Amino acid sequence: MFRVIRPPAAMAKAAAGWQRKRRSVGVVPTMGALHEGHLSLIRAARADNDIVVVTVFVNPLQFGPQEDLRRYPKPFARDVKLARAAGADVVFAPSAGQLYPGGFQTRVEVSEVTRRWEGASRPGHFRGVATVVALLFELTRPTRAYVGQKDYQQVLVIDHLIRDLRLPVTLRMLPTVREDDGLAMSSRNAYLSPTQRRQAAGLWRALDQARARIRTGERHAAPVLDQLRRAVSEIPGSRIDYVAVADARTLEPVWRLRGRVAVLLAVWLGTTRLIDNILVDVP
Ligand code: PAJ
Repeated sequence: MFRVIRPPAAMAKAAAGWQRKRRSVGVVPTMGALHEGHLSLIRAARADNDIVVVTVFVNPLQFGPQEDLRRYPKPFARDVKLARAAGADVVFAPSAGQLYPGGFQTRVEVSEVTRRWEGASRPGHFRGVATVVALLFELTRPTRAYVGQKDYQQVLVIDHLIRDLRLPVTLRMLPTVREDDGLAMSSRNAYLSPTQRRQAAGLWRALDQARARIRTGERHAAPVLDQLRRAVSEIPGSRIDYVAVADARTLEPVWRLRGRVAVLLAVWLGTTRLIDNILVDVP
């Protein structure tokens, strides 16, 4: 029977019950404003597990003081409907006051892999993510957790969290779900004007060109980066935060391309910051 759970203690109690009955639990952490990207994770969790929990929590700890916490969309009734239709058994949606009561002072920090890219541009962001994910895992006790490649550095952070703390959770990464023109689905796409929205597809075309270039024999990062920068600069009103070609495991920049590389970008279109990435196996 489907239900919405608000109090963390009620969530922990339900999870303890499932654990006693040896039910497998799939957990999909989200900040709500659900779209097809989130729904693909929920459907995957449904296919693999006895119980599916979708967490909906806009986590204040992972937003910087100048970031979009207050304007972040919160269509909660719609999220509940969508999560349920995609196969959720439980939507866990605590309030910020419930999850972080007065006196809460613990932070979970994953070090090296958070230094660059999103971590450098958004100080404290991954500390907020790791803290909330550790807490959500503790309350929901997942057998498996589902995350999107869209936020690839975040996937690596959660993977480290699980491995380093030896959490009994299997992490599943699913591919980025895209709009018809290639733009990665994101709750933040709603901030774009119609013109920006059309232009935003240029980010995907830039990544796709980078992939083609590597597939057809390029073995150095520099020309790939140059081409990426050029392609992105052609989008009117765009400002590059970073473009990177990095080792897919460590996210350290690479100069010679081999093994699996991640091509990553973060770009401002007006006041909206978009990120995207692809993984390329260098032949
Ligand atoms: P949120 O941005 O809501 O994303 C929740 C999950 O959906 C993440 O694993 C994200 O990578 C995945 N996702 C987002 N867009 C996607 C797309 N187009 N295709 C596939 N998957 C996509 O990421 C967060 O929330 C938060 O940081 C969270 C992990 C919940 C911690 O607060």
